[in-house]
Amino acid sequence: MTNALLFVGARQIVTCAGPSRARVGRELNDAAVVTNRALLVRDGNITAVAPESELHAANSDAAIVECAGGVLTPGFVDSHTHAIFGRARYEEQELRAAGIDYMEIARRGGGIHASVRDLRVRSEDELFVLAAPRLMRLAASGVTTVEVKSGYGLTLDDELKTLRVVRRLAETLPLRIVPTFLGAHEIPLDFRERTGGRREYVDRVIHDMIPAVAAEGLARFADVFCEPGVFTVEESRELLTAARAAGLGVKLHADELAPGGGAELAAELRATSADHLAAVSDAGIAALASAGTVATLLPATMLFLGKRQQAPARQLIEAGVPIALATDFNPGTSPTTNFPLVLTLGVSQLRLSAAEAIVATTANGAAALALADRTGQLAPGCSADLALWDVEDFRELPYWLGEGRCVASWTRGKPCHPRDLALAC
Ligand code: NIG
Ligand code: FE
Repeated sequence: MTNALLFVGARQIVTCAGPSRARVGRELNDAAVVTNRALLVRDGNITAVAPESELHAANSDAAIVECAGGVLTPGFVDSHTHAIFGRARYEEQELRAAGIDYMEIARRGGGIHASVRDLRVRSEDELFVLAAPRLMRLAASGVTTVEVKSGYGLTLDDELKTLRVVRRLAETLPLRIVPTFLGAHEIPLDFRERTGGRREYVDRVIHDMIPAVAAEGLARFADVFCEPGVFTVEESRELLTAARAAGLGVKLHADELAPGGGAELAAELRATSADHLAAVSDAGIAALASAGTVATLLPATMLFLGKRQQAPARQLIEAGVPIALATDFNPGTSPTTNFPLVLTLGVSQLRLSAAEAIVATTANGAAALALADRTGQLAPGCSADLALWDVEDFRELPYWLGEGRCVASWTRGKPCHPRDLALAC
């Protein structure tokens, strides 16, 4: 059987071709769209984007994939999700509508605490069965790489259980999955309630959890929810310094709801990404720009929480900060697996162009996971991670509000979301 695929008949190929690093400033507005080109895949990697006649003649062994006038894009990179959880938290939505905000719900023992109680009583098998279809729904919306965080366990055993589920998903599903340890997602209620408990919990994460996660090779990154009322800047610094010393990459939930110096800390630590940033300060923006840390913006979260505020995307771009967009898929603040919806919000809420929204979810999403040399662009040498769309122009991706126009996708050249198997002849 041949290992080669020749994608022909695409009206446009959105290559996002460029340097293997996060794009900044005007680079973000160049999605490198080409027409009258075919794309050749060999052994899971892209080997050429060139006129069909040229590729046809030299690669007669390749199986043809007819794109039927659709648009080919890099598979999207969802660089921020909390996909391992138990039940939905729909009752909190009504509480917020009635005027009780996210942090107040958490203070009353709901929010993250509710998902923690729920996850702790579920088995690895149960969590796997719940998470797999969620990730496949993301795949059905054009995602081929997804980051998955732990963070609803908050004990050594429950965090390891969560990350083992992520590992099993990575071994089983046709997506590229990047695991992140988020043991510092919240201070568990029993620790919050006793004197010295807060410090004790930080010590547990540093001395028990991080070494165990690193020893089992269960995570690529560590993350902390650095926010007034959750982990302080000092605690976050200590936690991420320990994580880095154990060999993990560093990410940070920063300035999500209130400014607190999170972006500045991410820059100081040269974090791979600082995420959320709806309340980032001017000093935080300047610090991120000089560090080259990717600012991962999560517009669905603010929309779902009913906030008017969004991250200052244009100001970040203007300052030279590389931005990425992601879903933040989680049961509390962003229960969506509709990836194109994030593109729509990127344009309508963050005032990006369609090209900027696409580069922010491909090349820059990959950079937010330190994968810019592997995925996020359709160029020779990159993994064949691609998505085919039933649209005539790439600007329709953010345009069709809430619609699923992804026809099929491939990860490492293998079908990921084969909605229409007849396409692969
Ligand atoms: O990214 N901010 C912290 N974590 C999630 C929400 C988690 C939850 O409410 O369950 C977020 O918004
Ligand atoms: Fe998050």
